[in-house]
Amino acid sequence: MSKKRVLSGIQPTHDSFHLGNYLGALKQWVELQTDNDAYYCVVDLHALTVETDPKLLHQRTLLSAAQLIAIGIDPNKSTLFVQSHVPAHNQLAWVFECITGFGEASRMTQFKDKSQKGGAERTNVGLFTYPILQAADILLYQPDFVPVGEDQRQHVELTRDIAERFNKRFGKVFNIPQAQIIKSLAKINDLQDPTAKMSKSASSMAGVIEILDTPEATLKKFKSSVTDDGKEIKFDEKLKPGISNLLTIHSALSGKSIQSIESEFAGKGYGDFKSAVAEVVIANLEPIAKRTQELMSDRAELVKILEVGAQRANQVASETLKSAYSAIGLI
Ligand code: TYM
Repeated sequence: MSKKRVLSGIQPTHDSFHLGNYLGALKQWVELQTDNDAYYCVVDLHALTVETDPKLLHQRTLLSAAQLIAIGIDPNKSTLFVQSHVPAHNQLAWVFECITGFGEASRMTQFKDKSQKGGAERTNVGLFTYPILQAADILLYQPDFVPVGEDQRQHVELTRDIAERFNKRFGKVFNIPQAQIIKSLAKINDLQDPTAKMSKSASSMAGVIEILDTPEATLKKFKSSVTDDGKEIKFDEKLKPGISNLLTIHSALSGKSIQSIESEFAGKGYGDFKSAVAEVVIANLEPIAKRTQELMSDRAELVKILEVGAQRANQVASETLKSAYSAIGLI
């Protein structure tokens, strides 16, 4: 049986990925590369929707690639590349923009949230067309699965709609992909506001665990995490969102079931539990942070890896673009 194809992407908008990225998406990326034909992309063009200093964007793109390798993405198994190295992404995005309704794009909740926060004058057109570029990122590689967190579900739905519409109008060019979302890990929450998604755009970083944080900073963030009324360590998302979030994190990284962690901490206090979660997190993240720094000390090697990835990605992407152009009647 031929291998299934997987594609996903991550923005290089910050100095470090966070625990939400890691548990919601990146851990899956690593697992999926073993039995599938995987394409993973640092989406630098998407990062342009946020105003960033050029030097910083350059640095963060390399740092993103380094973190992905440190997490376990193996460039010999997966095609690891940078979005702007494959011009077909922009080329196909334009075609998709012409078959996407204005209303349809206006309904994207991430766009609505971000544009409401920034106001019309500070919202760029790129932010509006962003999900259409994402559809091109995905469909160029004809993937079966797109491993993402819950916040990307709507974008993958739009991608499916665009692919179906294109195929119906112009003949079948695109495979219809499925979002692969692990329900229990799809929304890791902020440690200070456990009903909100852990996110880099949070107003404070106190509740955001960064992969490259020092162990001291991570411990401090867990120790001061917001917990709930009562004293019991029990999973209950409605009544105990803080403890439930910590249980989810512990379980995902220790491999223990939620139930067994609950029993382990029966009769113990929140303080002990928070320190134990921090310990598990630090044991997982510290080696990743170290490996990232090592990889960043040989940038020439990193650039070489990304060049090889770009070559492979360009081959697949340009084939699909050719079929799409031909289907719509471009000579
Ligand atoms: P981005 O860069 O914001 O996030 C990368 C991945 O992390 C997941 N994620 C989370 N999962 C669980 N809990 C959280 N708190 C959490 N925060 C983030 C995201 O769902 C995502 O899977 N638009 C995309 C990037 C993108 C892309 C693509 C993804 C561009 N093209 C093509 C897949 C396929 C984004 O902004 O993800």
